[in-house]
Amino acid sequence: MFICICQAVTDSTIRRAVSEGVTDFHDLSYKTGCGTQCGSCINLAREVIDEALADSAALGATTPLQVVASP
Ligand code: FES
Repeated sequence: MFICICQAVTDSTIRRAVSEGVTDFHDLSYKTGCGTQCGSCINLAREVIDEALADSAALGATTPLQVVASP
């Protein structure tokens, strides 16, 4: 489902961005352009980000920055 028509950003795109480390709308906008034209998608995009973050937390997912180095 398209969340941002202007930049062709879908809910799947947002969920993928969250899985790659996006944690807020600012990050999403920088990465995808979501919300950079008319802005009518911003609230819905934030809802999708929050849902994706909650899903990740429920699954115990780690962020891409949580890499453990071995000696
Ligand atoms: S619908 Fe996202 S900027 Fe217009």
